[in-house]
Amino acid sequence: MRILGLETSCDETAAAVVEDGRRILSSVVFSQIDLHALYGGVVPEIASRAHVEACDRVIDEALRQAGLTFDDVDALAVTYGPGLVGALLTGVSCMKGLSYALGKPLIPVNHIEGHIAANFLTHPDLAPPFLCLVVSGGHSHLVYLPDYARYELLGQTRDDAAGEAFDKAARVLGLPYPGGPRLDALAESGDPHFLHLPEPRVEGRYDYSFSGMKTAFLNAVNQLEMRGEGGEKLPKADLAASFRHAVVESLVGKAMLAAKEKKVEKLAMAGGVSANRELRRRMAEECEKAGIPLYMPRLELCGDNGAMIASAAYWRYQRGETADLTLNAVPGLRLV
Ligand code: KG4
Ligand code: ZN
Repeated sequence: MRILGLETSCDETAAAVVEDGRRILSSVVFSQIDLHALYGGVVPEIASRAHVEACDRVIDEALRQAGLTFDDVDALAVTYGPGLVGALLTGVSCMKGLSYALGKPLIPVNHIEGHIAANFLTHPDLAPPFLCLVVSGGHSHLVYLPDYARYELLGQTRDDAAGEAFDKAARVLGLPYPGGPRLDALAESGDPHFLHLPEPRVEGRYDYSFSGMKTAFLNAVNQLEMRGEGGEKLPKADLAASFRHAVVESLVGKAMLAAKEKKVEKLAMAGGVSANRELRRRMAEECEKAGIPLYMPRLELCGDNGAMIASAAYWRYQRGETADLTLNAVPGLRLV
């Protein structure tokens, strides 16, 4: 079964054709980063407009790269939440129109389940049950999959998402948007013990909190600057490494705690932040120690893409979960 998937929830317009939820026939990602960099973050109106302009081209290109036409596609999939309302609406309207015109089923996908499905594309043998740490710009969730397209939420962030925290810390260090990957690169040459950022206590056993760490980081940087150690002399690599260390240890700690207590057999990671080098290294180390196999998406599938949406849609379709033309964008859509 071939599914054409479209993703427009934030600042990537992406389309892909995926066969049977596992095999990528084509994947096209049009990033709007250049359009938003000027403003230091995603501007919703600009994102919606850019999606409108890019949708058709990106879909045509995905079909062309796969050597297919609309006739060869069995179903259409689209992200309908969570995300920016205008951005989501663009994609949902586009795919509703195609579904109506072509008479093909429309499958609604949650952006977070899309991220998780990137693992099915990377690891052909991966099957539920498994635990997945989903870390992106908007989400930090510990999700248990008892089966395909079935989700149980074990924990989540109480405030900022991990990616959001990375982006804000990067901004404090004067790194341009999107800061997460840049902070990660800078941290490689820094001392992670330069600054100690304590992990906050949170109520939920598997919940996260990053807003306190972010504030502590901001205060520490301000103090260094006031002491005259600022400007060019600010030890940016050490600061980046310390912040990354604190966030990563918190992510890894709770994920491993949940994995052990719930006696899960496999652990996976997903979302933009799963590209973080330190997170990948530390998860690999801890899973090796615990004897739990670890699954991570290929780097190009960590961030937003259409293939993950088409893959997630396949498992939903197997359960008969399709949408009709009343489908609407749901900016605050929950996974469960
Ligand atoms: O999954 P994604 O592409 O979009 C959302 O669904 O939010 O995630 C984007 C987030 C951004 O916050 C970005 O800074 C962060 O992922 N990110 C990283 C890295 N690569 C992307 N954060 C830390 N280290 C990285 N290497
Ligand atoms: Zn995402």
